[in-house]
Amino acid sequence: LRHFLSIQGLNRELLTRILDTAESFSSIGAQQVKKVPLLRGKTIVNLFFESSTRTLSTFELAAKRLSADVMNLNVRTSSTQKGESLLDTLRSLEAMHCDMFVVRHSDSGAAYFIARHVPSHVSVINAGDGCHSHPSQAMLDMFTIRRHKGSFPNLRVAIIGDILHSRVARSEIHALATLGTGEIRVIAPRTLLPRNVDSLGVHIFHDMRVGLKGVDVVIMLRLQRERMEGARLPSEREYFQLYGLTEEKLALAQPEAIVMHPGPINRGIEIESAVADGPRSVILEQISHGIAIRMAVMAMTMQIPVPETKEVR
Ligand code: CP
Repeated sequence: LRHFLSIQGLNRELLTRILDTAESFSSIGAQQVKKVPLLRGKTIVNLFFESSTRTLSTFELAAKRLSADVMNLNVRTSSTQKGESLLDTLRSLEAMHCDMFVVRHSDSGAAYFIARHVPSHVSVINAGDGCHSHPSQAMLDMFTIRRHKGSFPNLRVAIIGDILHSRVARSEIHALATLGTGEIRVIAPRTLLPRNVDSLGVHIFHDMRVGLKGVDVVIMLRLQRERMEGARLPSEREYFQLYGLTEEKLALAQPEAIVMHPGPINRGIEIESAVADGPRSVILEQISHGIAIRMAVMAMTMQIPVPETKEVR
């Protein structure tokens, strides 16, 4: 695993290894051991061309907990604003002897482009590219599901909302399928489904009340207004009535069903506060798990052997 660009193409063994490695790291920072020296001497650059709260912060913390030197390039105040090309920005950063770029960009494929142009000792991690892929989010979601539900084959998982513009949904569908999830449902209006959704091996529902019946995991998605053209914008009120998660609709799922959301949340549009803050919500846990997953992915792409739990500490 030199780069981590997409879930597609990774096999079950590798995904399971990422989850197991993250388990080894999950108590670091929270308990007595605050850091481990696995990436000491390595330099990691967070190169975020799109805004982020959770992903940027947890990648930074993950790098620090592995003892790497980490730099967040503020793209808004960088020389890209003076017209410097992406490649020239990269070359300049490479001249500072970086070992890894963590990249977020609004263009699908941006992280691939960067991965093709870095020297052979540099790794690239995709932290979200356009509507295409957000692989570390998918893995922290898989980690959260495994923590709560144990394994995947007996699970029914529903992903609800703006599938069309969601890089999270695409990565989650690939991860859930690769891990052998019993049934993957997508629940969305026709206008917010990708054309090729049939080929993804999911069951499609347009009526949320039907699609939610009996599911074990409910994953809500944000309406990605920044990626929509005006004509496709649904009214927020109508959207909430049809596709917003309320306590009443959640009652159709399994009694032990968990509620997830990658964030940021739009309360009152795709989820009501009583559910987002309720006893079945694991939304904040997802964020915490992002640190361990990102530590695992960073160590694995840097080809650093990760000792068993006891030795890591
Ligand atoms: N889930 C997620 O990617 O959140 P941020 O945009 O805040 O990083």
